[in-house]
Amino acid sequence: MVHIEIADRLRETLTEADYTVDTVVERIGDEGQRALGRNSTIAADWALGRDMDPLATLIRLWLLQQPVSRPAAEQALPGLVDGLVAAGILTGDVRTVSAVVDVRPYAADDGTAGWVVSDLVNGLDAQPGPPRPDYVLGISPASTSLAQLTMRDPIASALDLGAGCGVQSLHLARHSRRVVATDLNPRANELAAWTFRLSGVAPEQRLGSLYEPVAGERFDLIVTNPPYVMSPPDGTRLVYREGSMEADGLVEAIVRGSVGHLNPGGSLQVLGNWAILEPERWTERLADWIPPGCDALVLERERLDPFEYIEIWLADAGLLGHPEHSGRYRAWLEYFDDLGITGVGMGWLLVHRSGSARPDIRIEQWPHAVEQTVGPAFAAHRAAIAYAGRTDAEVLATNWRLADDIVQETIGDPGAQDPRHIVLRSQRGFRRAVEVDTALGGVLGACDGDLPLGAIISAVAGLLEVDAERLVADLLPRIRQLLADGMLTR
Ligand SMILES: C[S@@+](CC[C@H](N)C(=O)[O-])C[C@H]1O[C@@H](n2cnc3c(N)ncnc32)[C@H](O)[C@@H]1O
Repeated sequence: MVHIEIADRLRETLTEADYTVDTVVERIGDEGQRALGRNSTIAADWALGRDMDPLATLIRLWLLQQPVSRPAAEQALPGLVDGLVAAGILTGDVRTVSAVVDVRPYAADDGTAGWVVSDLVNGLDAQPGPPRPDYVLGISPASTSLAQLTMRDPIASALDLGAGCGVQSLHLARHSRRVVATDLNPRANELAAWTFRLSGVAPEQRLGSLYEPVAGERFDLIVTNPPYVMSPPDGTRLVYREGSMEADGLVEAIVRGSVGHLNPGGSLQVLGNWAILEPERWTERLADWIPPGCDALVLERERLDPFEYIEIWLADAGLLGHPEHSGRYRAWLEYFDDLGITGVGMGWLLVHRSGSARPDIRIEQWPHAVEQTVGPAFAAHRAAIAYAGRTDAEVLATNWRLADDIVQETIGDPGAQDPRHIVLRSQRGFRRAVEVDTALGGVLGACDGDLPLGAIISAVAGLLEVDAERLVADLLPRIRQLLADGMLTR
């Protein structure tokens, strides 16, 4: 476990050296930063030139994975090198010192900041993989997506399930009074303990699978990007990405089990993958996972065919160009074939323990650009579905208002008097859009909060010379969708 005294002194040293995101980017330049994002250290090394001051040494050691001279290491980490070697953070001898694990500054738009400890970046400068099976992944695009989609209202308790390097807990600690961080991998718990101590937060850490370490406990929020990669059981498995269950069984178990660990009104947010078996029934399959008494919003952001999917994850495991590549590829295809997997959906799941007798479950493909951070859009949806669940009479009796961020787009032939399509599009959140006909456009245009919806529909029916009751029946389902999407509000 973490050596508290060494970690506290390391934190002071990193602070003094200004080993922060902004200063590092200033030092290696935007090009150096972008190149590191492509797993190439050359641009950053070029920017550092021959510099060996403490900040340059820390960057070389941890971001570029370069061995540094013992005197340079002593200068950058005064009185700490032996302790860090003993703690397994560094390795070295009398001449050189190198990193065993990655220590990097972290900062996000919500003000979260600290240092994240994980295994060294795999495949840096095209070093051949694959990584060790208990490899602890650092901050990945998936980590950032989950952090961005998490709802950040102040809460009493949060569970970071599969905490890995601990980055989600750093965010959760800012808005949740209590945070529990769990992982199946003891090495992840060990490295996360360093992340937490260095970053000045103190989540409770537990070891174990899924909800086992929190038996009998409930939370206001559960967040997870679990090991969702679906691969054959006989290949080398990496604990950070492959669960022990068949196909998407692990994501299903997390969703089904959530209700037993959520307080009333609590939510689960997952970034995950799901198997597409029969493409025309994929929403029913996922809807079946949603526990009773829970609302859900599932947005499939991307869908890959089996070939695309397998190629991505074989490359992620460092197997490109490896002699086993083609054999593994075929075995993976056979596994998918046996299970009837015709594609893989990737996206975001929100399960909300609303206690509703008629839960609102929406599962859809939404590959369009959204406003980042998107967490507030999930929070707004959770609130908005209460409007969508009102009775017809209540919906008609309410003075609704078109949300302020909606603009009208028209598409048509140049010079034509009337457009062929009119679309109302929200500029914020999920950036929802709806195509309107004359009646719906007229009704929505008049929704400024002054009149109840029923009166507006009657007036529009009069103008269009159509039956008001039939117009109500025609418009209400679409109005409900607009309420759930937050395009129409109070
Ligand atoms: C993709 S990583 C996510 C890490 C971190 N939450 C993030 O946002 O970067 C998935 C994590 O789940 C852990 N894990 C794997 N199987 C698990 C299980 N059955 N129960 C709990 N955690 C598990 C892995 O060890 C790994 O740390």
